[in-house]
Amino acid sequence: MNPRLFAFAGGDNGLWRVVENKTVAGEALADVRRLSVLNGAVPLLSGDAKWLLRGVTSNERYVTRAEKDFLVANQPRLGRPEAICAAFIPIRKTEAWWALAQDERRRILEESSKHIETGLKYLPAVARRLHHCRDLADNEPFDFLTWFEYAPSDSAAFDELVAELRATEEWTYVEREIDIRVVRDEV
Ligand code: HEM
Repeated sequence: MNPRLFAFAGGDNGLWRVVENKTVAGEALADVRRLSVLNGAVPLLSGDAKWLLRGVTSNERYVTRAEKDFLVANQPRLGRPEAICAAFIPIRKTEAWWALAQDERRRILEESSKHIETGLKYLPAVARRLHHCRDLADNEPFDFLTWFEYAPSDSAAFDELVAELRATEEWTYVEREIDIRVVRDEV
């Protein structure tokens, strides 16, 4: 079992109730009622699930030492009791992005688009986990599965963050993006 492997299953079951499924770019993902976040063993697409997306957490590619230190000091953990809202945003970037060299991608992601600088302003309100899909198989539908948890009172701020990122040069390389918002029901 690989503890860095996560799967997101959309269907009729799961802790998270889907409140919005918006296609930002490219092909849509089928509407589902609930979302499960699974860790470790990869389940097969079972019974009620309409889709299952997989990704692995990995080492960082772009952060500098100073950015990493800031992240480590300020990023909250996932699963905070008050963070009952979450966003699941699978993203695929273009072939042109993947054809760039590492230094060119860092220039676009940070020097031009200020992805990290902007994101850091939303800590500690937003907890996040980035999953990579690209190397799992040849035909993975997305390159990244991004997951964010926040309290209802930070929901407007999260929308602002997403809008800021979508207006950057980095996002001109995004060819498929789905924005799924979910809420954890009280049990
Ligand atoms: C809480 C605010 C956020 C912070 C602190 C943050 C921080 C970061 C950092 C540090 C990286 C680079 C990781 C590395 O070095 O490999 C990254 C990558 C990424 N983030 Fe964010 N981010 C935030 C919000 C978002 C949002 C809202 C989205 C989606 C709408 C997003 C999508 C991505 C994607 C797709 C990558 C991978 C980019 C690539 O490798 O090409 N991030 N983020």
